[in-house]
Amino acid sequence: MGLPLDGKEIIVGITGGIAAYKSCELVRGLRENGASVSVVMTDAACRFVSPLTFSALSGREARAELFEPHGITHIDITARADAFIVAPATANIIGKAANGIADDLLSTMLMAAKCPVLFAPAMNCRMFDNPALQANLKILRDRGVLFVGPSVGPMACNEFGLGRMSEPADILRAAVSLFKEKTLSGVRVLVSAGPTFEDLDPVRFIGNRSTGRMGFAVAKEALSRGAEVTLICGPAALVPPPGVKAIAVRSAREMAKAALEAFSNADMAIMAAAVSDFAPAEYSASKIKKEGLQNYSLKLIKTPDILSAFGKDKKKGQVVVGFAAETDDAGPNALKKLKEKNADIIAANIIGENTGFGCLTNRLYIYDRKGLVMDTGLVSKDEAAGRLLDVAAGLLQLKEIKSKGRSAK
Ligand code: CTP
Repeated sequence: MGLPLDGKEIIVGITGGIAAYKSCELVRGLRENGASVSVVMTDAACRFVSPLTFSALSGREARAELFEPHGITHIDITARADAFIVAPATANIIGKAANGIADDLLSTMLMAAKCPVLFAPAMNCRMFDNPALQANLKILRDRGVLFVGPSVGPMACNEFGLGRMSEPADILRAAVSLFKEKTLSGVRVLVSAGPTFEDLDPVRFIGNRSTGRMGFAVAKEALSRGAEVTLICGPAALVPPPGVKAIAVRSAREMAKAALEAFSNADMAIMAAAVSDFAPAEYSASKIKKEGLQNYSLKLIKTPDILSAFGKDKKKGQVVVGFAAETDDAGPNALKKLKEKNADIIAANIIGENTGFGCLTNRLYIYDRKGLVMDTGLVSKDEAAGRLLDVAAGLLQLKEIKSKGRSAK
């Protein structure tokens, strides 16, 4: 079998951020996956990592100068490039690209590029928050530029927040997905993700440990396969993948309302959210005080079961996928949920140290009506999302969907 990037010509732009050192791994990974890589650096980038390092890793001279002793550096490689990745992408290069400024080799080449462009932003969290930066990101997104990250975490400047460059493996995955066959183009996929918070008073709520990672991974994977994705997410610290229609909700009731509205338009629904099964019967508009109380009982009422509602409402051709987060008896519980909720597929995951909530990996046992169809083994949540979509897509009536003549955005 060939490598995923065999024959691909990829330009990697490096700008001046501390994360430039991580791009060494990226260049290596791109080459290991079959790509030919040309590295272009800004002056600031050369202060972080030597061009020699990138020349050695890419096997081609890393360029930084627009003007050379004998003329202008050839930017003709942009005409042959299959993808242009900028990692790290500083606020400066994002601003230049958004506003058509071409004052060095990298920004000039970006202007000449006709291929898909993928930015991996990296900057201080307050810079990332800046309205000018956000407006520039929007301009680029609207023009079809793709983004991976940033992520939340500790920064080189000792602050903590959103602005860290994505890990090289994630950028590599995003690069590979640029070339993925768009097998789900024209398909509308509804995904739910994250926890729900059931408010008790203005201070407290009932929530759960879901981070939303699994659902976000499913949304990202469906998008990379060309689907039109609606992501309904409860309170999660993650940034929705650019390109999905994201609807933020808080409570199970809000999630149910948004999901039921979106379902009639969906070809497939994948419900990865950890929806609270119960919510406080009453909400106290002022803070509940402990004074005079020795114990306190809460009356909880059941929330709507969204997956069951989909199971009841589904029309011919609609595929409904649920999850089953279990501590014990994953198989029997998954099959029971599948039948009771009239789902087509249930992905059971065990809540453990490296599986289930709050971790980067998962192991899914995927069941359909006949029984276990796949055990993914312990894999990244992105990988697990891919396997689940492989199984779920097998149930779609793609011919009928495509004949309706819809096209993905
Ligand atoms: N689910 C839902 N609405 C709810 C509760 C759960 O749509 N009110 C969905 C979840 O998104 C998931 C599936 O149902 O796809 C199973 O959720 P899970 O929490 O594992 O099971 P429950 O049905 O809530 O049953 P239990 O908590 O008793 O295991």
